[in-house]
Amino acid sequence: MNENVIKIAPSILAADFGRLAEQVEAAQAAGADWIHIDIMDGRFVPNITMGPLVVEAVAKAASIPLDVHLMIVEPERYIQRFADSGASSISVHVEACRHLHRALGQITEAGCRAGVALNPHTPAAAISEIVEMVQIINVMTVNPGFGGQQFIKSTLSKIRSLRKRVNQLGADIHIEVDGGVTGATIGAALSAGASVAIAGTCVFQHDNGIAAGIAELRRAAAKAAHVEDKY
Ligand code: DX5
Ligand code: ZN
Repeated sequence: MNENVIKIAPSILAADFGRLAEQVEAAQAAGADWIHIDIMDGRFVPNITMGPLVVEAVAKAASIPLDVHLMIVEPERYIQRFADSGASSISVHVEACRHLHRALGQITEAGCRAGVALNPHTPAAAISEIVEMVQIINVMTVNPGFGGQQFIKSTLSKIRSLRKRVNQLGADIHIEVDGGVTGATIGAALSAGASVAIAGTCVFQHDNGIAAGIAELRRAAAKAAHVEDKY
C-alpha cells in the first residue's frame, strides 16, 4: 500500500436526502473511493438515521464500494440484512458487541469485509485479540451520533499505535478516520497512519459543491504526505 495516497469516503449523513442518488453519483464522479453510510438506532447513539432500504438505494446509484458503519446495539441481528442490501464492508462497534469475535465472523461469512469501530475513549488494546479478523479499523475521531463535530486530536496517538500494529502484522487492513475530517485535519490523520478519510460535512456541504469538497481533501492530503507527523 502506498501510505501517501489516502482513500476518500464521503459520508452521506451530510447529503441532501431529497436528492440522494444524484449526490452519490456526483461524489463518485468527483473521485470518491468509497461511500460511507452511517446507520444509527437511537440506542447506541442518540440519533436515528437510516436502514437497509437506503443502502439499497445507494447501491443502485453507485458502483464504488459501500462502507456501512453500524452504530446500533446488537448489530449481529442485522448483518445479513445489510449484506443483502449491497454493503461491501460492515463495521460494528467494539462497545456494542458482547460477542465481537462472533459478529466479525458473521460479517465475513455474509461475504463482506469486516470492520471494527472504536469510540474515542476506547483504547487500541480493545481490539488486540481480533485485529487479524478485520480488513477495516474505524477510529472514531468524534463521539458517534452526529455529523459536523470537531475532530478530537487525542485520537491521533491511537491511530499511530494501530498503524504500528497493522504494519507489524503485514496485514492488509485499512485504518479509517471518522468524524471532523476537513482540509485542516486530514493531514494529521494521514501522517498518523490513516489510510481512509471519511468526511460528511466537508464534502456534501462544501460551499462550492461536492467535487470541490473532495478536491480540497485531496489537496490537503497531498501536502501532508510530505510533512512529518507532528503529534
Ligand atoms: C458520526 C459518523 C460520521 C459522520 C462524519 O457518528 O460516524 O461518519 O458522518 O461526519 P462529519 O464529516 O460531518 O464529521
Ligand atoms: Zn461513520
